[in-house]
Amino acid sequence: MGSRLWFRPKLYFCTMQNNEEKFKKVIAHAKEYGFVFQSSEIYDGLSAVYDYAQNGAELKKNVKEYWWKAMVQMHENIVGIDSAIFMHPTIWKASGHVDAFNDPLIDNKDSKKRYRADVLVEDHVAKIEAKINKEVEKAQNRFGDTFDKEQFLSTNARVLEYKAKMDEISHRLYKGMSDGNLEDIKQLIIDLEIACPISGTKSWTDVRQFNLMFSTQMGSTAEGANEIYLRPETAQGIFVNYLNVQKTGRMKIPFGIAQIGKAFRNEIVARQFIFRMREFEQMEMQFFVRPGEELQWYEYWKETRMKWHLSLGMGQENYRFHNHEKLAHYANAAADIEFNFPFGFKELEGIHSRTDFDLTAHEKFSGKKLRYFDPELNESYVPYVVETSIGLDRMFLSILTHSYNEEKLDDGSERVVLRIPAVLAPYKVAILPLMKKDGLAEKAREIMDVLKVDFMCQYEEKDAIGKRYRRQDAIGTPYCITVDHQTLEDNTVTIRDRDTMEQQRVAVNELHSMIYNKIRS
Ligand code: GAP
Repeated sequence: MGSRLWFRPKLYFCTMQNNEEKFKKVIAHAKEYGFVFQSSEIYDGLSAVYDYAQNGAELKKNVKEYWWKAMVQMHENIVGIDSAIFMHPTIWKASGHVDAFNDPLIDNKDSKKRYRADVLVEDHVAKIEAKINKEVEKAQNRFGDTFDKEQFLSTNARVLEYKAKMDEISHRLYKGMSDGNLEDIKQLIIDLEIACPISGTKSWTDVRQFNLMFSTQMGSTAEGANEIYLRPETAQGIFVNYLNVQKTGRMKIPFGIAQIGKAFRNEIVARQFIFRMREFEQMEMQFFVRPGEELQWYEYWKETRMKWHLSLGMGQENYRFHNHEKLAHYANAAADIEFNFPFGFKELEGIHSRTDFDLTAHEKFSGKKLRYFDPELNESYVPYVVETSIGLDRMFLSILTHSYNEEKLDDGSERVVLRIPAVLAPYKVAILPLMKKDGLAEKAREIMDVLKVDFMCQYEEKDAIGKRYRRQDAIGTPYCITVDHQTLEDNTVTIRDRDTMEQQRVAVNELHSMIYNKIRS
């Protein structure tokens, strides 16, 4: 078994984008407008742990529903479960997490700072890639419209040299990781002359393995207590329940089990806001298939999951597959769906053909048969599994970073607008009486009482209407309904579109179906 079971090498590295400024603004906006708060903030926070605030909790709930609907509601052969976070400790022995869910750590002796050794190397490679990007930029400026980027990348001597260097480092890192050769990973850091970003020195300790699972004690007395773990993935809760679900649900292969839930990892390099957290949520689905049919299903799920992402309309150019060239020992195919975050293309979702590794291991460790009797083949076998696994918090981050826009308006003013896909927006509608008096507030409340049964609505009567529009833009509310004096005369209102800012006069009794259709489309 390799040193880090889940280490997945990237044989190329993400394009570094200089979007740092924008990312900082998104993080500040997330706090200012009630999406995400640092956990335990009044105690100076807890590193890599975050709380979802009033608008964030709504957005997160909507993402879960959107996923659940696509995976469970729309597939007759997929059902959902909600398994416990605490599980029998032997499960994590069987899955390989106890022995191999490790990160290689290294300390700088001067700054006393701890790093993930593989990340230090990856960051070094990213710097080389930044040099390639610089070369491209320079050539682009020099040659203008006649510049052929593909040709330049495949022929320019300096670029080829950089690429070869990147490949060499990546292969050496991968080999060290999969052989568990910690000495060579340290040697690689020394050979590359990587210095600590804090102290600037190259005085490193040896590399050692660090298990990412959080453990705690279950039981009241020290002698009787068992060491158990907070689950590092939700998938194992599905594996150990698969036969119960199959039997009680009379499921026939191929079938799937989906689950949304918390997972915990003691991440050492916790950075990039909610991209890498110690407590996070996963939306996972294990699809049980006949042995030999797994690769066909793997292709099906790759395509299906990519379509799901694209259905949100956040731009095809912002997604790409990264097919794993080297595979973890339990997989016979694996790919990531990467999203173009402000810090470059990074993993958003994983699709893995996990063979029969997990179920066979649980058979062995539990001593229980986990075979499925296939009535069509008249035989029993351990099913193969194709997994789709997406981080809910990463999905949230992709939406937040993509939807954040600063715009200059025709009248010279500026606005910050979150162009969140309407189906996911925390509030669908804001109801705004032009003024409190003359019965406008009462009429607005009347409209709100009807709409709030089916849509998350916000009622606002404070401040000028323009200011209220800006507040709704900033939290991504797709529609604002304004109640004015004409409403009292002919029962019509104006409905303003967040993205186009266009206003339309519509009858109050048409509002419900209009909003419903807009949100669904
Ligand atoms: N059951 C397979 C599994 O857990 P993974 O690639 O380790 O595979 C799946 O994790 C997804 O979970 C990732 O694609 C990512 O979106 C999310 N994820 C993993 N670690 C995370 C962390 N520390 N913080 C936030 N999301 C994380």
